[in-house]
Amino acid sequence: MQLKINLTGKYVVIRVLFNKKGGVGKSSLAVNLAAISASQGFRTLILDLDTQCNTTSYLNALGASAENTIAALFEQTITFHLRRRPALEYCQPTQIDNLYIIPGSERLSELESELHSRHKIYKLREALGSLSKEFDHIYIDTAPALNFYSLSALIAADRCLIPIDCDDFSRQGLYSLQQKISEIKEDHNADLEIEGIIANQFLANANLPKQIINELIDEGYPVLPEYISQSVKMRESHQAKKPLIALAPKHKLTRSLVAIFELLDNGKAAR
Ligand SMILES: Nc1ncnc2c1ncn2[C@@H]1O[C@H](COP(=O)(O)OP(=O)(O)O)[C@@H](O)[C@H]1O
Ligand SMILES: [Mg+2]
Repeated sequence: MQLKINLTGKYVVIRVLFNKKGGVGKSSLAVNLAAISASQGFRTLILDLDTQCNTTSYLNALGASAENTIAALFEQTITFHLRRRPALEYCQPTQIDNLYIIPGSERLSELESELHSRHKIYKLREALGSLSKEFDHIYIDTAPALNFYSLSALIAADRCLIPIDCDDFSRQGLYSLQQKISEIKEDHNADLEIEGIIANQFLANANLPKQIINELIDEGYPVLPEYISQSVKMRESHQAKKPLIALAPKHKLTRSLVAIFELLDNGKAAR
């Protein structure tokens, strides 16, 4: 795999959190992994490509002005009277040091068909190509659908993380997801790898989640060997609009997320 190198000579990793199923933890994991990355000193960027804007809300960035959202970044590719602003101008600081966000926007829905019909599917990759000079790690949160924006993200990313909520629908969805990712790899982005399946909302006392995970491992899926348990702390963290590393750094859930971060080869690749 060919990783890009940024201006400080570090390798840059662009990761997309994706699953067509909703409610599996894409936004929760994207924000928390990005915040952990930032807290370890990596210059980190997160992009919110979901019109629900949960990531933007979680990082308390819903108040960003419309011209600094991801929708505005896409819009300038189809509106020629607008001055082309460099992608870096869209990156807003958050309350976490080293963590920047390009906020989401409901306007993504309005723009989608025009972006699609005008073949702008590589524009995100171009934008991230320039942003990757400035950051060490980039996380992309996506909507629960393979729409124009998720496809753009899968074309732009190096690695895909797939959260699952350890139920049978999640498992059934994985096969078609894996096929789709292979197709995108073949047609658009040879570098794309499924880096890991993240078992989220894991209930250690129940049999079914363990059984589902063991079956996935037997079928050869790259399930990461740290499972994230279900904990009310996650919801408290959303409500407080504070990622867990800031809200409860010693909590079991946070330690589990840090373990996931360390399983990813960030540390090795980017230091
Ligand atoms: N480990 C967890 N423990 C408890 N609740 C969780 C956990 N992960 C996610 N949730 C909750 O599940 C819901 C869906 O999570 P979210 O991250 O928004 O998923 P997605 O982005 O895939 O739709 C949210 O209400 C969130 O608080
Ligand atoms: Mg989400």
